[in-house]
Amino acid sequence: MNHYKPLPWQNVWITGAGRGIGRALAILLAGQGMRVYASSRTEIELEKLVAEYQHLPGEIIPIRLDTRCVEELEQLINEWDQTDCFPELVILNAGTHDPFSAAEFSAQRCKHLFDINLQGTINCLEPALQRMLKRGKGQIAVMASVAGYRGLPTAAAYGASKAALIHLCESLRLDLKNTHIKLQVINPGFVKTPLTDKNEFTMPALLAPDEAATGILNGLLSDHFEITFPKRFTFILKLLRIIPYRLYFYLAGKIVK
Ligand SMILES: NC(=O)c1ccc[n+]([C@@H]2O[C@H](COP(=O)([O-])OP(=O)(O)OC[C@H]3O[C@@H](n4cnc5c(N)ncnc54)[C@H](OP(=O)(O)O)[C@@H]3O)[C@@H](O)[C@H]2O)c1
Repeated sequence: MNHYKPLPWQNVWITGAGRGIGRALAILLAGQGMRVYASSRTEIELEKLVAEYQHLPGEIIPIRLDTRCVEELEQLINEWDQTDCFPELVILNAGTHDPFSAAEFSAQRCKHLFDINLQGTINCLEPALQRMLKRGKGQIAVMASVAGYRGLPTAAAYGASKAALIHLCESLRLDLKNTHIKLQVINPGFVKTPLTDKNEFTMPALLAPDEAATGILNGLLSDHFEITFPKRFTFILKLLRIIPYRLYFYLAGKIVK
């Protein structure tokens, strides 16, 4: 295990920590001695996480939370407020994917993705920003995706939800310019998780969740606004972002069959 000590934080809240990237991050940060508030909806996954990683130097505290549920969120925030222990690092990672083509386009399925990926993140962002602004410091990282750079096949709703998050973070970063609150956006390439296991195509430059967690921790320790990896893949996607539409649609059609 890599040692990053001393980490500049003691407490972190990670949403969507029951599996996939969030889970790997929880393990990595608890391994570095941090107290990790790990939230998600599926209690059994959180219980398993805690049971398997009790030996780490830090602590993993399971929290059942649906980020769409304002009442559940208020209860959690109140508990932290009562002891003035709102975490100094917040990683808003919870998200989902539901690939569908134009032929299957559905307002209901779009709403489901927007509710979790966008509104769920915004619900958590509000109390985090308020408390950090009051405290005068803090760090927030929002999980978006390279899928938010440009339109990709079967990802109209997913990509739009992630593009919205990138845009939101860009604006907030400017608004927070004269504060000691660091806001970052995380745009990973493909990571092997239950979310991507449903993809039916070969995923280039696919990373393991623990590799993604390491990339995120390195990014959190940097001053970069965007945390993106693996660079060999995300660099190409960045180039695709700046080329004209005609060339983009031609190349994207060739790359993604
Ligand atoms: N895997 C990739 O290649 C990739 C690439 C770029 C970006 N991302 C983004 O990274 C994040 C994590 O992805 P992943 O691949 O690790 O997915 P995953 O394996 O499906 O894990 C998603 C986590 O989010 C939680 N979650 C989903 N909806 C929630 C809700 N309403 N409230 C609270 N928690 C919720 C899930 O737990 P419950 O369902 O139990 O709540 C789970 O713990 C997502 O935002 C995803 O869009 C992933």
